[in-house]
Amino acid sequence: MRDLLSFTLKKRGYFVETAEDGDIALERLSEDIYDVVLTDVRMPRMSGITLLRKAKAISPEIIIIMMTAYASTESAVEAMKEGAYDYLTKPFQFDAIQMIIQNALERRQLKQENRQLKEELRERTAFSQIIGRSAPMRKVLELVEKVSGSRANVLILGESGSGKELIARAIHFNGPHCDGPFVAINCGALPETLLESELFGHMKGSFTGAVSNKEGLFEIASHGSIFLDEIGDTPLSIQVKLLRVLQEKEFRRIGGTRNIQVDVRIIAATNQDLKKRVAEGAFRSDLFYRLDVIPIMLPPLREHPEDIPLLADFFIKRLNATLEKKCKGISSDAMAALMKYPWQGNVRQMQNFIERAMALSSSDILTLVDFDETLRLGGDTPTSQSIPEDGLDLEEAIGRVEKQLLLKALDATHWVKKEAARRLHVNFRSFRYRLKKHGIYTQRPGKD
Ligand SMILES: Nc1ncnc2c1ncn2[C@@H]1O[C@H](COP(=O)(O)OP(=O)(O)OP(=O)(O)O)[C@@H](O)[C@H]1O
Ligand SMILES: [Mg+2]
Repeated sequence: MRDLLSFTLKKRGYFVETAEDGDIALERLSEDIYDVVLTDVRMPRMSGITLLRKAKAISPEIIIIMMTAYASTESAVEAMKEGAYDYLTKPFQFDAIQMIIQNALERRQLKQENRQLKEELRERTAFSQIIGRSAPMRKVLELVEKVSGSRANVLILGESGSGKELIARAIHFNGPHCDGPFVAINCGALPETLLESELFGHMKGSFTGAVSNKEGLFEIASHGSIFLDEIGDTPLSIQVKLLRVLQEKEFRRIGGTRNIQVDVRIIAATNQDLKKRVAEGAFRSDLFYRLDVIPIMLPPLREHPEDIPLLADFFIKRLNATLEKKCKGISSDAMAALMKYPWQGNVRQMQNFIERAMALSSSDILTLVDFDETLRLGGDTPTSQSIPEDGLDLEEAIGRVEKQLLLKALDATHWVKKEAARRLHVNFRSFRYRLKKHGIYTQRPGKD
């Protein structure tokens, strides 16, 4: 039987070694690394189960498939309990055994890939990926580390581009729910019914367009975290439903009659002043107090310029890899300008500036000329400068203002051109023409 199996498997392309009993098998296992062990349950001297245990002790990842002549389920069950991958009852077909081996190998590879992906994710969401050694950022990071270990809900406050989502991910992936899903939704970007359906799901036929049952994000995020971005823009009717999830840990799908229980960590974020929204009647105070248990306030970048050199260094290293550049750093005058700049769009805007400079520059040190004009002007528009003795070129000055406003509109709308055009009250064609005139990239540079 052993020779026959060895012969057939070899013929099918496997590398096969045989051993006539458990002791010899264990010797082989300690001398080399094998993927699969195929063993009888009943053998002279050492039983298959004992071999299984000892083999697992030598190499825990090894796949063990048991063969048994008696259709004795007992020993098979025992073997499975001890960690056997599967068992076969004799007589069997060679195709069957090959299929089991193949499946086992594939499954193990998937497991390894999965582990590797998780490892990468862990690296990307590690606290070390959040840059900041200034006092305000240290305070934030301390708090982030502390809350991530708990299951508490968190509210992240901060201006646009200050790193709210980065922090949310770090909290999830360093917390007790890290093996569960992390789902994010922008509560300000969807019309009311759609948002409700996205969050809570719906039953078929509950509204026009509900063509089938659909799970909501709260269900999908079960045993993980849900990131409610722009929570301040959530319509009031949905706020009531969110409050219920927070209080009762349950909700209903649209059109559903059953209460669904959820265990989800809620991480909310906003760039709005929620207290003000409460005072205006646009945000429910009970929901605010529920969310505000652990607020994390991200400082705007202009309040911790000491972190700018660190951030610049971090982005350059990361962008070197993605842009295939060999940039070494930033000249001192450019760095001084970066540190003085008001950064309305915070870290995201700074990252975009650096990416744009790196994409355009061919030198290995970025200097002031590589950067956008706005940086050279320290965020000022030419109109805030006085007219020099020898006069200035009006057309050129207007052009500069125009370019700055175009870039500002793009930054403010995350480079969604249509939206930027709308904000500047020009039609899309004219907007595109102006971008081209100023040589502005039409792709958002800091896509992340
Ligand atoms: N402290 C930091 N260290 C490293 N990268 C950062 C830091 N803060 C922000 N970033 C980067 O800046 C970009 C913007 O961050 P993020 O998307 O988290 O901001 P946000 O507050 O959610 O912005 P918005 O309000 O526009 O949605 C991301 O690419 C993020 O990785
Ligand atoms: Mg965000």
